[in-house]
Amino acid sequence: MYLACTIGWCIEWIQAFYIILDDIMDNSHTRRGRPCWFRVSEVGLIAINDGILLRNHVSRILLRQFKEKPYCDDLTNLFTESECKACSGQLLDLIITHEGKKDLTRYDMTMYRCIVQHKTAYNSFYLPVACALLLAGENLDNFSKAKNILIEMGTHFQVQDDYLDCFGDPELTGKVGTDIEEYKCSWLVVQALEHADENQRSILFENYGKSNPTCVSKVKGLYKKLNLENLFHEYERESYSKLIADIETQPNEAIRNVLMSFLHKIYKRNK
Ligand code: IPE
Ligand code: MN
Ligand code: MN
Repeated sequence: MYLACTIGWCIEWIQAFYIILDDIMDNSHTRRGRPCWFRVSEVGLIAINDGILLRNHVSRILLRQFKEKPYCDDLTNLFTESECKACSGQLLDLIITHEGKKDLTRYDMTMYRCIVQHKTAYNSFYLPVACALLLAGENLDNFSKAKNILIEMGTHFQVQDDYLDCFGDPELTGKVGTDIEEYKCSWLVVQALEHADENQRSILFENYGKSNPTCVSKVKGLYKKLNLENLFHEYERESYSKLIADIETQPNEAIRNVLMSFLHKIYKRNK
């Protein structure tokens, strides 16, 4: 139990590290109902070093607590690999928003899934469950189907995050969305591009990615007109039933229970 808690905390610190840096890169204002760490006046860009400190302690703690365990290498590799995935995802998420590189015609479901599976799904979904499997003495090669389910769950989670960025209540999410201003390849803009007519497409091309509040409200107005709220609820229902069906095919009861309780947690998130 002590070792499981140690890993749990390591994952929390990794998450804190990503979020502190992500808020700087996304130019965000609030997180968990308070100013982003870098917005605190005496912190500023020292937040970068704070993030690195959090990350560094994870490696030190893992080495200290697990060096005698037969799965120590697998465990440290797992953290390194999911870090590589997350940073690559963040890189892609960010470079396609650069001035001069902005091109909404590149925003489609293929691009979207590539970004979110890297930036979110590995770290937030596969990593914790894979750690538990290693701790239980399992070989990760035997759980590739469970891994796929977790990656799909992570994708579902990020679609929710993108939906809440625009339609969520900041009192509940603890953050104010910046996806439209930041030209993010969000699930909402990908859906809007798929469903818009020529005229609506040109509204998107003219107003997406601008911090001017009039432009932002034009984009939001179009999202409402295209009924993206409904489309999201449809997506959510379908993806939820598919995930349940996939989880039920898992032969191992303990894994089935873990996946199911994970799924119920994310499903309840915006209810
Ligand atoms: C980034 O996704 C996920 C991380 C690797 C932290 P977002 O940029 O959409 O996350 P939020 O909305 O700021 O929490
Ligand atoms: Mn962000
Ligand atoms: Mn977001």
